[in-house]
This record gives sequence, C-alpha cells and structure tokens, in this order.
Amino acid sequence: MSQSFDLIVIGGGPGGYVAAIRAAQLGFKTACVEKRGTLGGTCLNVGCIPSKALLTASHHYESAGHDLARFGVKVDGVGLDLAAMMGHKDKVVSDNTKGIEFLFKKNKVTYVAGAGRLAGGGLVDVSLNAGGTEQLSAKHILIATGSDVLGLPGLEIDEKKILSSTGALALPNVPKSLAVIGAGVIGLELGSVWRRLGAEVTVVEYLDRILPPFDAEVAKQAQRLLAKQGLNFKLSRKVTAAKSGKAGVTLTTEAAAGGSPEDILAECVLVAVGRKPYVDGLGLDKAGVELTPKGFVKVDGHFQSSVPGVYAIGDVIGGAMLAHKAEDEGMALAEHLAGKPGHVNYDAIPSVVYTWPEIACVGRNEEELKAAGIAYKTGKFPFTANGRARAMGESDGFVKLLADARTDRVLGVHIVGPHAGDLIAEAVLAMEFAASSEDIARTCHAHPALGEALKEAALAVDGRAVHI
Ligand code: NAI
Repeated sequence: MSQSFDLIVIGGGPGGYVAAIRAAQLGFKTACVEKRGTLGGTCLNVGCIPSKALLTASHHYESAGHDLARFGVKVDGVGLDLAAMMGHKDKVVSDNTKGIEFLFKKNKVTYVAGAGRLAGGGLVDVSLNAGGTEQLSAKHILIATGSDVLGLPGLEIDEKKILSSTGALALPNVPKSLAVIGAGVIGLELGSVWRRLGAEVTVVEYLDRILPPFDAEVAKQAQRLLAKQGLNFKLSRKVTAAKSGKAGVTLTTEAAAGGSPEDILAECVLVAVGRKPYVDGLGLDKAGVELTPKGFVKVDGHFQSSVPGVYAIGDVIGGAMLAHKAEDEGMALAEHLAGKPGHVNYDAIPSVVYTWPEIACVGRNEEELKAAGIAYKTGKFPFTANGRARAMGESDGFVKLLADARTDRVLGVHIVGPHAGDLIAEAVLAMEFAASSEDIARTCHAHPALGEALKEAALAVDGRAVHI
C-alpha cells in the first residue's frame, strides 16, 4: 500500500519547501521528497547562503587588513584561518538546513529522504537514501527540482582545479590565481571572495560588459569599482579550450568575434556561465510532462504542466533563477490549490549581487525601456552626497530611479552602493503598490540613513534633489 498525500513536492529547495509548508498550513497532507540528504536545495547548501557566509567573512578579513586604519582602528598581525572561515560557513549551512527540518516537523510536512520519479496516475516512486524504494500517491504533484550547473564544452569540472560554484565554496587553500569564466552573479561574488583572500583573479566574459541583465550604467560603475579592488576583467573574450597541467589550468581564449588568441594560466578555474533546469531521472518523458525547447518544464499561468495534477515552480520552469522568485511561486501554487488567489508579480522581483559595494535592481532598466519605446524620466543620486554613506566611509555608487514620463509611475530602480541589497526592498514595495516617484519623494525617510539616497533620486526625477 502506498502512502497517500494531498500534495507531494519533489525537491526541498526554497521553492519546494516553501510550497510544502504553505500547503500544510492550508490543511493539505503534504510530503516533500528530497535526495540531497539535507533540505534547502542549492540555495541553502551550495549557493546563496554559504556564498554569503564567505562574502561576509572575507569582507571582514579585507577590512581588518586594509581598511580599518582609515577609521583610526589599528589592527596588527591580521591573519587568515581559512579552515575556521570554512567552519563558519559550514555551521551557517547546517543550522539553516536543520531549521527547515524543524519547520517541516512544526507544520507536519512528511520529509522523505530519497529520489522521486513520476510513475504516472498520481504516483511517485522514491529510491530511498536509506535503501529500498517506496511508492507514494497524491492528488497533486509538484516538481521543484531547481537547476544545475551549466558546463562548458571542453572543460571537465573536477571541483579541484576546474570548479563549479560548489567547488569554489570549499577550496582547502587560497589559490595563487583563479580564472573565472563568466562575469555574472556567481563569477563576481565568488571572484570577490577569493580576490579578498589573496588570489589573483581574472574574469573572462564573452559579452562586452559584465552582469548582462543589469542596467548598463550600473554594471559599468560596478565593473570600475571591482577593477579598483583588483579584479582583472577580460571582456568580449571566449574560452575555447582548457588543459590541466602541473602548473595549473591553461585556458585558451580568443576574441568573441574570433582571432587574437590569448592563453590564461591559472591555478584554478571557476566555470560560472549560468545554470540549466534539473530534470534528470524524474521520469517526465514517460509521464508525458512537456518541456520547452530549452529544457524547462512547460507550465500554464497556474504552474500546471501538460499533465493535469502535475505542477512545477522555480528554476525548473525558467525565468529569473532566484530563490525568492521560486519561494513566491511556491506560495502562489499552494494558495491556488486551496482555491485562493495566489499571485506572483514578475515585474517586481529584485535582483541582488552581494559584492562590495552591493548591486541591486528591480523593474526595468534603461535599455529595456528604450527597446520597448517607453518614455521615462531619470532621477539619480550619488552616495557621495549621503551623510550616512560618508560617515560609513562607503560613498561609492548611486541610486537611479526610472519613472514613466507620462504617469510618474516607478518603472525601475537600480542601485550600486552600500547595502544596496537591503535598500532595494523599499523600491520593490513601492513598485508593488504602483507608487509614483512623487510618492517616494514625499515619504519621510530617517536621517541620516542610506535610504535617503532613494528619496533624493525620486526628487531628482523632477530636478529637485536637495543635496546635489
Ligand atoms: P549568469 O547568467 O548570472 O552569468 C553568466 C555569465 O557568463 C554571463 O555574463 C554570460 O554572458 C557569461 N558567459 C556565458 N558563456 C560564456 C563563455 N563561453 N565564455 C565567457 N563568458 C560566458 O550565471 P551565473 O553567474 O552562473 O549564475 C547562475 C544563476 O544563479 C543566475 O541565474 C543567477 O541569478 C543565480 N544566482 C543568484 C545569486 C544572487 O541572487 N545573489 C547568486 C548566485 C547565483
């Protein structure tokens, strides 16, 4: 006899575990099948959380060694204990993943440790991590299996010399040199970590700019600041081959348009050229679940796949591959199943890059507005004119607010600067409430605070910023 549930979620990452908890709160008998051995998916185990632990720790190391003196703080004998730093990261990960197990117990979600496969007719076969198999059945099945590292032809990831983000989060020593392929979020965050810890870091990017989905002006400023910190950028360049030898890995590169070959020798290489949907071993083909041409699970507006009763959310359905987008989809799906109006506003999903300074955005950027032929006004405010940023000694960067030229509605906010990842929350809320730049400009902001820069950018839309 198979155990039966109202909902079986396959995948215990931010999309899956949130869907499972919300469904349980709504009265569904819910199971979550996860094969990793710990809950939390890529994000908690080998992604967002461990990278932020290392970004924070490496930032402290760099501050103590190079930055605190300007505040009159003398620190002698700064040293690196990489094992302790990794210990901090591992503890943060384990506390977080155990936290999800606790939340499952609290909400009475059944956690099944194993690999799930659709068996048709509302059945899921699970190869249990502990050995053996178990068949589960449910009225609804949710695929929330996320994404996996996208490799590059000719580069075999061994997680020792040629690394994915997973290997780059667990190096036992600081490499003398690290070549990063891809100037996206992972490349810049993990490139920053190892540069701060002492590696010579070279970032090779195919395009003529970094961070392709971000506003070009913000990306340009970010590149300037990161280059000042010591990251080397080689833009408009593609990697055609890699060869491991005693001295490290030799990357053969050429200009993106062809020609001008150049070899780059580095002790380690990080491949950070994107991620792909994870659908291996799920039995989707047999179950009749259709995929898009790019291999994502095809869903309708209510996350239902081509098979009634089988749903999918998160990275596996495409769109922004972000934990918070997956979480919101998980919430929305659970609410739909309960007959409630679940909803995700894809126009107001923030993106954050946790470099120093941080980079954050929500809504549309200038290039997108121009391409769509939408007339807009721009308000910009630099952190050099923000009292709090100056007091913190962190006055690099700016806030840029884009508002509809006709209605003044906020269409996008783009920030490079201190705590941009936290500052963006106000802009997201403003957009969720369809605010105008006037609304933000009229909102009282505490002084002195970094948030005043957003208010001033809103004032600047009409040319009335006070402090510039
Ligand atoms: P990405 O899509 O952000 O960046 C990949 C970069 O690699 C792009 O700039 C692309 O032009 C470049 N590229 C592609 N092929 C190349 C080649 N052959 N040679 C040189 N450059 C090449 O992907 P990334 O950084 O791997 O991140 C994967 C996903 O994880 C993204 O969707 C990202 O949003 C998410 N993520 C989010 C984080 C956050 O929210 N802070 C942190 C880390 C990852």
